[in-house]
Amino acid sequence: MARPCERLAIVGTNLLKRTSRILIEFARVYVCNCNGLRQRDVRQAIEAGATRPRDVFARHKCQAQCAKCVCDMRKMIDETCRAYAMAAE
Ligand code: FES
Repeated sequence: MARPCERLAIVGTNLLKRTSRILIEFARVYVCNCNGLRQRDVRQAIEAGATRPRDVFARHKCQAQCAKCVCDMRKMIDETCRAYAMAAE
C-alpha cells in the first residue's frame, strides 16, 4: 500500500500527463497562429481547391504574417494530393 506522499506523487504525475496531452492536442489544432487558422480551416481550403498556402490564406481572407505555418500548409496540401492520387489509381 502506497504512503500518502507516494499517492500524491502518483496523482500529480497523472495530472501532469493529462495536462500535457491536452496542451499538445491544442497546439496541433492551430496551423497558423497569426491568423487563427486551424487544421480544419486549412483542410476546407484544400478541399475547395487550394494548391498553395497563398490560396489557403486567400480563401480565409487573410495573408501570411510571419509565414511560419507555410511549411505545415504545404505538407497538408502534399499529403492531400498524394491521397487523391492514390485514390484515383
Ligand atoms: S503562423 Fe501563419 S502567418 Fe504566422
